[in-house]
Amino acid sequence: MAVKIAPSILSADFMRMGDEARSALDAGGDLLHVDVMDGHFVPNLTMGPDMVKGLRRSLPDAFLDVHLMIQYPGEFARAFVDAGADHLTFHAEVVTPDQALALADLIRGLGASAGLALNPPTLAADWTQVIPEVDLLLVMSIFPGFSGQKFMPEVLPKVQELASVLRPDQRLEMDGGLTVETAPACRKAGCDVLAAASAVFGAPANKRAEIIGLLRG
Ligand code: DX5
Ligand code: ZN
Repeated sequence: MAVKIAPSILSADFMRMGDEARSALDAGGDLLHVDVMDGHFVPNLTMGPDMVKGLRRSLPDAFLDVHLMIQYPGEFARAFVDAGADHLTFHAEVVTPDQALALADLIRGLGASAGLALNPPTLAADWTQVIPEVDLLLVMSIFPGFSGQKFMPEVLPKVQELASVLRPDQRLEMDGGLTVETAPACRKAGCDVLAAASAVFGAPANKRAEIIGLLRG
C-alpha cells in the first residue's frame, strides 16, 4: 500500500493552527496526526476535543488521526468522534486485551476506525488476540510525551514482525523521531503511515512539500 504521511500538529505554531494544518496538507500531507496527552499517561499536556472540532470546521475534508496518549481513552472516545475525529488510536499500556477489544468495538460503533499503539518496550506477542481486530497498529519509536526526540531503531524488528501478520486492509503506523534520514528504514520494515511533527513543522512552510516527498520516498 502507498505510504501515507501524517504531519503531527504537535510541532505546529499553535497560534496559527489553521494555517499550519492547511500548509501541511497543501504540502502533500495525507492526514493530520493529533497528539492528545493527559499529563498522566505521559508527562505533558497538549490538546483535547475542541482542537479536533476546530480542525474539522476549518478543514472539512482532512482525515484526522487522533493519537490518545491518555490513561482513560474509553471515557473520551465519544467526545473525540463527535468533534470530528476519523480515527482514534489508544495505547496498549492502559488496557487489558479484553478491554482493548471492547474499546475498538466502541470506537467503530461511534463511526471511526480504531488503532492500538505499542510503546517501545511493549511486545507485539502480548497482543496477538487484539492485533487482527484493529484497523491500525501504531509502533512508537520514542517514548511518548514530546516531539523532537531521537528515533529508536531497536523497535524496527517489532515493525517487521507486525508487518508479517497484518492483513492488507490494516495499516502500520510509525511515530516518533521520523526524519528524512530515519524514514527509509521504517518504510523498508513495512510501515505505511509515517507520523512526523518536527520534521514537517520545524521546516519553513515553503520547504514542507519537499520534506513530505522525501519522507514518503
Ligand atoms: C509523541 C507523539 C508524536 C510526536 C512526534 O508523543 O505521539 O506523534 O508528535 O514528534 P517528532 O516527529 O518530532 O518525533
Ligand atoms: Zn503521536
